Amino acid sequence: MRDPVFDWIEAEQRRQAEGLELIASENYASPAVLAALGSVLNNKYAEGLPGKRYYGGCAYVDEVERLAQERLKALFGAEWVNVQPHSGAQANAAVLLALLRPGEKLLSFELAHGGHLTHGSPLNSSGKLYAVMHYGVRPDTYLLDYDEIRDKARKFQPKVIMCGASSYPRDWDYATLRSIADEVGAFLVADIAHPAGLIAARLLNNPLPHCHVVTSTTHKTLRGPRGGVIMMGKDFDNPFGETTPKGTPKKMSTLLDAALFPGIQGGPHMHGIAGKAVAFGEALEPAFRTYAENVIRNARALAQALIERGYTVLTGGTDNHIVLLDLRNKGLTGRDAETLLEEAGITVNKNLIPYDPQPPLKASGIRLGTPALTTRGFGEEDFRRVAGWIDAVLSHPTDAEVRRRIREEIRAYLEAFPLPYPPTGVVAVG
Ligand SMILES: Cc1ncc(COP(=O)(O)O)c(C=O)c1O
Repeated sequence: MRDPVFDWIEAEQRRQAEGLELIASENYASPAVLAALGSVLNNKYAEGLPGKRYYGGCAYVDEVERLAQERLKALFGAEWVNVQPHSGAQANAAVLLALLRPGEKLLSFELAHGGHLTHGSPLNSSGKLYAVMHYGVRPDTYLLDYDEIRDKARKFQPKVIMCGASSYPRDWDYATLRSIADEVGAFLVADIAHPAGLIAARLLNNPLPHCHVVTSTTHKTLRGPRGGVIMMGKDFDNPFGETTPKGTPKKMSTLLDAALFPGIQGGPHMHGIAGKAVAFGEALEPAFRTYAENVIRNARALAQALIERGYTVLTGGTDNHIVLLDLRNKGLTGRDAETLLEEAGITVNKNLIPYDPQPPLKASGIRLGTPALTTRGFGEEDFRRVAGWIDAVLSHPTDAEVRRRIREEIRAYLEAFPLPYPPTGVVAVG
């Protein structure tokens, strides 16, 4: 008998095909990536690193992991990488474990202004293990204030300064952040989970020349399998005095590798690493740069069209794939908007705006992202239409008929933008 799990996978494939996916952290991985994830590499234990494993039978997975490493280095200009983090949260936990002892100080971007839980939230191990101070955005512009970051760094004297965000629509000035880190003797860590694909395409500032360590996820703008990575532009001698058995200083890369395994992880997920290798190969193709350019162009078109319809777009626009809406002038909370839009076949997430008077589960805003629909082939004109649909739904919150009609309209419209997956949702071929 067929396991009902496959019925739910089929239903999810239909949901993904028939609705507008605007969650900024989601994307449609290629069939080749999904095929690698569904492969026999799932069966293999490979604790350790290529050529230095704790298990036999690793000849082929070694080749896969080496390929993933080489492609990732080429994508970002990294001297050293680790492709084993199960996801972004693990990459961040390992880096902080390598750079900080419990009780030491971390300065990072405020969660409620767009940061991430793994950057020192009290709910996450990073907030429980380390002493944390946050910087935020200015209340008048919603932009980062590098003078404030410098002041806080001088006062707090952190050992690590972390940058990067889950919802910040502008680029980061890594060179200035490095000057701040150098002034106070801190390590600079960038988490590029969100804009990684746009950075790989050289469309946003690259943190690798400036930051000591960089982490990322692989499934957002990078369009790969769910996963994480750790990178360094240049390896360096660890500053903690740790030495090899021969008495030479251990490289920082050795400490990072050890912090991930056995520090916080067990065996690497070799099927995930295979998916990463495939995705990094795709991201090295010229077509990926065109994709990334379109992601940004589409986000600008979406922001502009919403501004023209009277919406408050935070910071007045976007440099990347994210558009943040403050819905207070529309008399709706983020939660209301998320629910209404979902009924109309438009998937978004409610989002705190900086200095939000609402609690996180209500929130005053929503976050929109263009990566997934751009993968489907949407261009600027299509995104102007998306703005029209969003506006129609949010302008008639009590009219269920509007939502029903738009849901049908979207379903029909998307028939011209098919997903490259079989109807079962299970990709079996490489
Ligand atoms: C900036 C940032 N870092 C880390 C993560 C964590 O990634 P994951 O969900 O893969 O653990 C996210 C996920 O949303 C993120 O936005």
